[in-house]
Order: sequence, then structure tokens, then C-alpha cells
Amino acid sequence: MKNIFILTGAGISAESGLKTFRDAGGLWEGHKVEDVATPGAFAVDPELVHHFYNMRREQLATVEPNAAHAALARLQEHFGEHLTLVTQNVDDLHERAGCRDVIHMHGELLKKRCASCEVVSPCTGSLTYDCVCANCGSEGRMRPHIVWFGEIPFFMDEIQEKLIEADVFIAIGTSGVVYPAAGFAEVAKHHGAKTIEVNLDGTEQSPLFDEHIIGKASETVPMLVERLR
Ligand code: OAD
Ligand code: ZN
Repeated sequence: MKNIFILTGAGISAESGLKTFRDAGGLWEGHKVEDVATPGAFAVDPELVHHFYNMRREQLATVEPNAAHAALARLQEHFGEHLTLVTQNVDDLHERAGCRDVIHMHGELLKKRCASCEVVSPCTGSLTYDCVCANCGSEGRMRPHIVWFGEIPFFMDEIQEKLIEADVFIAIGTSGVVYPAAGFAEVAKHHGAKTIEVNLDGTEQSPLFDEHIIGKASETVPMLVERLR
């Protein structure tokens, strides 16, 4: 059986109602990235950063996975361990659609982490500066379990291994401008994978892909999944 590596980005969740980062009307328009998504911003104004992620967490509770998430769950059922699903998204829509072992390289909105003891725990409600760590008792050290700009994404060793083994690499709904994820297609291709890009439009990375599927993820991903199965 072939090994399939899938990388998803904000575009797969767009039709569920979660804004993408860089599209017109995207998430950062009202908030400058450097005001909310960096360790420096958190050091200067933790309440602003908490507020920003609390709002996103609240919004996440109001949306549902779409047909693209559901299709990937079917693909995983078929390919089992031969399918690796890496997402840059911090939402839980892949999981809610039935996917297992999703690799959240940029962290998860529904988890928090203590900056003192590094213990990660569930986070469904609001996070505030005065939150006390249940593990080590530290106060004012709890942060969203999110990879900020300037921080190293999670699971990079495992991702690298799977990229090398991949026979097919598929990028869905990602603009391909944020590294290291933006470099995955090149690594997979270099090691012999066929590369497929699924997006509303072309991206900066498009020349690296062997095949381009243009359109809304909710329509294109189910078709692609049928083909792969
Ligand atoms: P972007 O907002 O940069 O890109 C979203 C991509 O999805 C664009 O290329 C769109 O053309 C495409 N798109 C939008 N709607 C779509 C649809 N319905 N169907 C298919 N494609 C669609 O989002 P990402 O590439 O995920 O990092 O951004 C990467 C990272 O930058 C994020 O994970 C985040 C951000 O800074 C962190 O939070 C660490
Ligand atoms: Zn702690």
C-alpha cells in the first residue's frame, strides 16, 4: 500500500466558518500578528493574547467539520497507518470528523500548557493570567498550547520521517508561506513523492506540485479521496 502524507491549512476549515489567516478578510486583519502570536507579545500583554485565543476557542465551539474533513476521515479508514495527517490548524475539526492521530504541528486551541513545568492539559473554557497550574502550582504561567512566530513547531522529527517515506504528498488549503511547513512539498518531492496541491488558487509553492486541484475543499477533497481509495 502507498504511503500518503497530507498537510492541511486554514483553507480546509474556511467553509466551516473559521477565517483563514491571509485571505481578504482573514484573521489577522483586525489584529496585527506581532500583537498576539509571539512570545514577546505574551510577555508584554498576556491578557490581550489570552483574550484573542479565548475568542477563537469560543468561535470553534460554534462551528462544525465540513465535507473535506469527513472525506479525510474516510481516507484514513482506508489507508490506516499508511496515512499521515499533519495540520497547521489549531482547531479540532479533523478529530470531530473522525480522524485519529492528527499531528498538530502548530499546537491546539483546546489545550493549555504551563510555561514552568511544561505539562499540557485540556482547555475548553477561557484562559486568564491568574490561572494556577494544577500540576506545579505556578500562577501566571499558563499559556495557550500554540506555536507562536519564532517558536519551533511540534513533532518535526516524526514529520521529517514520514515525508521521506511518502509516495504521495497532498497539501490542502495552505498558502505555503509559513516555514517549515512551506518546505514539506519540496522534501517529499525530493524523496520521490508525487505532489498534489488542493487550493482555491495557485500559491507560491504551486510550481513544486505535479498536480493542481483548484476549487473549494468541500468539493475537491471528497472527489480526490474517492480517487485515492
Ligand atoms: P493561510 O490563510 O495562509 O492560507 C489559506 C489558504 O487556503 C490560501 O492559500 C487559500 O487560497 C486557501 N483556501 C481558502 N479557502 C479555501 C477553500 N474553501 N478551499 C480550499 N482552499 C482554500 O493559512 P495557512 O497556510 O494554514 O500559524 O497558514 C499557515 C500558518 O500561518 C498558520 O498555521 C498560522 C499562520 O500564522 C500559526 O498559528 C503558528
Ligand atoms: Zn506547571
